[in-house]
Amino acid sequence: MKILTVVLIFFTYIFSKEPIEPIPLSLSYDRQKALLGKRLFFEKLLSKDKTISCASCHRLKNGGADKNSFSKGIGGREGKINAPTVLNAYFNFKQFWNGRADTLKDQASGPVHSKDEMGMTKEQILKRLNSHPQYRKLFKKVFKTDKIGYDQIMEALAEFEKALYTPNSKFDRFLRGEAKLSPLEKKGYMLFKKLGCITCHNGVNIGGNSFQKMGLVIPYDKLALADRYQVTKEPKDRYVYKVPSLRNVTLTPPYFHDGSAKTLQEAINRVSYHNLGFKLSKKEIEAIIAFLKTLTGKRPDILK
Ligand code: HEC
Ligand code: HEC
Repeated sequence: MKILTVVLIFFTYIFSKEPIEPIPLSLSYDRQKALLGKRLFFEKLLSKDKTISCASCHRLKNGGADKNSFSKGIGGREGKINAPTVLNAYFNFKQFWNGRADTLKDQASGPVHSKDEMGMTKEQILKRLNSHPQYRKLFKKVFKTDKIGYDQIMEALAEFEKALYTPNSKFDRFLRGEAKLSPLEKKGYMLFKKLGCITCHNGVNIGGNSFQKMGLVIPYDKLALADRYQVTKEPKDRYVYKVPSLRNVTLTPPYFHDGSAKTLQEAINRVSYHNLGFKLSKKEIEAIIAFLKTLTGKRPDILK
């Protein structure tokens, strides 16, 4: 039954238009607000002991994530789930692995208050920023207020994240008819469609637009962490996660919600086994990786 659904969706995709869309070459955002958000993203004052900023776990030089299975927050506390990238997060239909936030603005409160991440209350943040003359000046310029509001802080962070899109990857240029894929890359893309990866990884983010079960065909053998079940309490949502985006995926090992796959080979091996029910050959994996490499886009302008 489950397999039948996969097959059906698969054929729908194969015979419709290209199932992957390019990232827009430019996206309009409020530059002043985004630049304020950028400063806040790197601001350690947003954490209790002033040692951690958003950028500590979402390293913008490292594809917007970090190299750990679990990131470390204040006091060296280890988180319980792998940090996804913030690059192109704007295109995800929900935020977090289990989609518990609808927008980037809603999401940003999460890490700030989490005792394992930044450990701050709303009042503490407002006090710190409102007693900082430079921030008062900046917020006045952007939001025309004398007193910094919590909502404005989240709005600025979200505007910065909106600007973190990575257009013009080789694959996007291919989709627009501006570049040719190598034979190996082309073979990888064909396999990606033919094998059915595309049923879950599609759209502008090649993921990020649906919840799917890890272990759809062959149950996943590891403990489920913060899955969709935690949000809905429906048994069918155990082991269900937002499908991760595959954009810039070569930059963000380790993989999976539990950071348990150290390499792309391992991730592809395991996801094809658990979610499609078969093992791929070394050659097939090599081709898929060549395709995935074409998904690395241009560094966002706002980081220049
Ligand atoms: C201590 C490490 C850490 C810090 C600090 C941190 N994050 Fe995260 N971030 C994570 C982890 C881990 C997740 C995944 C949590 C989950 O899905 O349950 C995450 C998820 C996200 C997501 C969702 C991405 C997606 O695809 O679902 C966004 C956006 C994000 N963080 C932005 C921020 C912002 C903005 C800040 C600063 C206010 C921040 N993070 C601070 C570790 C961190
Ligand atoms: C049934 C839906 C589904 C299918 C089919 C599927 N995936 Fe995924 N993929 C997921 C989900 C869900 C995750 C997250 C799993 C987790 O974190 O435990 C994922 C994770 C991944 C990751 C790790 C990304 C990261 O940032 O952690 C890669 C790489 C990947 N898939 C590639 C593929 C390839 C290649 C195929 C085809 C061989 C494929 N997937 C087929 C749903 C699917």
